[in-house]
Amino acid sequence: MTALLRSIGSLPAAERPQAGKAANEAREKLETALKVRGANLSAAQEHDVEEIDVTLPGYRPNIGGLHPITRTLRDIARAFAPLGFRMVDTPEVEWDEYNFEKLNIPPDHPARDMWDTFFLKSESRPGEMLLRTHTSPAQIRLMEQIQPPIRILAMGRCYRYEDVDASHESIFYQIEGLAVDTAITMSDLRGVLEYFTRTLFGRDREIRIRGSFFPFTEPSCEAEMSCHVCGGTGCRVCGGTGWIEILGAGMVHPDVLRGVGYDPDKYSGFAFGMGAERVAMLRYGIDDIRNFYRNDLRFLRQFN
Ligand code: FA5
Repeated sequence: MTALLRSIGSLPAAERPQAGKAANEAREKLETALKVRGANLSAAQEHDVEEIDVTLPGYRPNIGGLHPITRTLRDIARAFAPLGFRMVDTPEVEWDEYNFEKLNIPPDHPARDMWDTFFLKSESRPGEMLLRTHTSPAQIRLMEQIQPPIRILAMGRCYRYEDVDASHESIFYQIEGLAVDTAITMSDLRGVLEYFTRTLFGRDREIRIRGSFFPFTEPSCEAEMSCHVCGGTGCRVCGGTGWIEILGAGMVHPDVLRGVGYDPDKYSGFAFGMGAERVAMLRYGIDDIRNFYRNDLRFLRQFN
């Protein structure tokens, strides 16, 4: 305004009065607007209205990241999806009936020693409620509900009264797979397991499948991968064997099929139960399972 008012003097004499008048009017308008705005702002401050200075630089939010086990579970689900396996969720607190009996493990069966179990106090059904020791009860729950063809994946926490060491936790995740149809054979199981390890670990990683025993599968097997820590010579992670067991599997036992009302002469199926932490250890080269649950941010941040 000052520069404008000053420049009026240099105008031709005839134009000066009109220009002076216009400039004065403009100045008055601006001054009034300034006063009004000033009054409004101080009124707003009196009412404690927060002022935001939009010119300040922003804060970068701390967005965290996915836990390596969450990542592994998601990658496993993604690997199985193209084969038609859909995800289901079943309870962590189970009945003895589902965790054992319907899986062909009657009370007092010696095979119960394979799973050191946390039993829960249940007033109405004492000794019958427990924390599931594996995800295999999902097999029964699903088969009781639907008819073949079945292809499902059940993931979740399992609990065992374990001696915790480099490869054993007392709370860990399993992924259960189940396929039931009219002509499922052991070679389907083998093919699916090989496809899975190729997808998650690449072609070069060695896997071996050997005979085993589970009361709910016949025949039964276990899959192991070469130990990533010692390369096969034997260490504390693989218990000196050079191999790390990642899953138990087999063909669903005819008695289990009969128990859920399926005709074993018509239907057959395979099932497997995989340890998520073991898979994550092998993928990321982790030498102690306990690292996953120590909540040490230096460890966890490496995965993001
Ligand atoms: C079972 O739990 C069977 N339910 C697996 C199965 C399913 C067999 C379907 C046949 C058909 P097992 O106890 O071996 O089996 O455990 C399976 C996998 O879970 C192991 O290979 C291992 O990867 C993982 N696992 C078992 N115990 C622990 C533990 N304490 N800590 C971490 N991972 C474990």
